[in-house]
Amino acid sequence: MRPTSSFSAALALALGALVPAPLLATGCSSSESAADTTGPAGAGGAAGAGGSAGQAGDAGAGGEAPAKCDTKGVSKGPWVVATDGTSAKIRWQTCVPGAKDVAITPEGGGTATTAAATETSYELTNAYKSVLTDAPQDLPGAYYLYEAALTGLAPASCFTYAVAGEAARTGRFCTARAAGDPFTFLAMGDTNPALGHTASTVTAVLAHKPDFTLHGGDMQYYSGLETWASWFPMIQPLLSSGAFFPAVGNHESEKPDEYEGYFKRFFGGAGFDGQNEYYRFTSGGLWFFSLNTQLDFDAASAQGQWFTASLADAKKQKGFRGSVVFLHRPFFTCGDSDHHPTEQASLEPAMKDGGVKLVLQAHMHGYERFEINGITYVTTGGGGGAIGDVDASLDRPECASRKVSGKYPHGTILDVKPTTLEGTVIDEKGFTRDTFSLPL
Ligand SMILES: [Fe+2]
Repeated sequence: MRPTSSFSAALALALGALVPAPLLATGCSSSESAADTTGPAGAGGAAGAGGSAGQAGDAGAGGEAPAKCDTKGVSKGPWVVATDGTSAKIRWQTCVPGAKDVAITPEGGGTATTAAATETSYELTNAYKSVLTDAPQDLPGAYYLYEAALTGLAPASCFTYAVAGEAARTGRFCTARAAGDPFTFLAMGDTNPALGHTASTVTAVLAHKPDFTLHGGDMQYYSGLETWASWFPMIQPLLSSGAFFPAVGNHESEKPDEYEGYFKRFFGGAGFDGQNEYYRFTSGGLWFFSLNTQLDFDAASAQGQWFTASLADAKKQKGFRGSVVFLHRPFFTCGDSDHHPTEQASLEPAMKDGGVKLVLQAHMHGYERFEINGITYVTTGGGGGAIGDVDASLDRPECASRKVSGKYPHGTILDVKPTTLEGTVIDEKGFTRDTFSLPL
């Protein structure tokens, strides 16, 4: 979702006639699903339609050729994706060819090892800037993406790592836990650090040392005063805290080539099976399914068929304890965004048969918890985007089953215990706003 109308109004008051009105008319409503859906074709609209302020090449207007990034050293990252019992992928990006080695050290102490990364160069053709800020532009030109594909790691273990020659470019990740082991993970969506609430929220939740983050999508907002160049340094504490598993949101494709040129290149292949757009992974006997709500996702769709079959397959695996689904557009919400009860109804039999305990949603910038037919649905879209109206659609049928709601930035910590999955919703000041317990 985008900044609320009140946020836009504040900008308008501050800047008056300097700002073209369309740039500020970014209110968040249920109509957003049809108006701003770009990128991967599927639910909600055709690829390339709509979009927000600025289109291809919107920086350097007026005939002035935009500069190219020639900064030495790591410019984005590092971050980690695709962790399983014995492997992980560490990625980072540079503007000129740079460090290819990364040192890995067991978090509990031990000898460091060095791994070499593969280098993939690519060319971006468009320049993008954010609205109304002097945030560094996303510049065209050559870039170099590095990936160290680690194998043979100790299972159920955490590691720290550091990119060679880059003392500040460090991080942490954990390999998958054994079935039944206790561990902690984080769910968060709609991070918009430029607005000033993401960093404090991240600090509060990272005190719980999650193994990994499930990001519900809408990671970065050009329309929310950010570029990818400005987003990465601001979100780095979260990226450095553990592996990062994103769902695709509508703001991952605000610009025509943003999904392919940025999001998919950085975070594609975050999990296993499926595709870049939807995938699964496992830890501790729980199976995690990322759905892409920018694509069709009812039971008859290709994604829905994959989801149904993969849920059933997971349930057959040794040590299975339950499944968790995370996606951007919510099945259920009483707030100011679209909801998708039709898709939920078509998938509910497979989710119930497949042992789904919890569905983590985003897109609506607030907190909600529903209990419906034995599955808990949590809207955890308070990662720092402008908070929306969680009560804008109280006439929807699911609102009779909403147990809790709130209008505050937050993240949701999930503690996997021997017999339960415990949820704790933490706001940007570190206060607990809700708790829930699900049997495993
Ligand atoms: Fe969204």
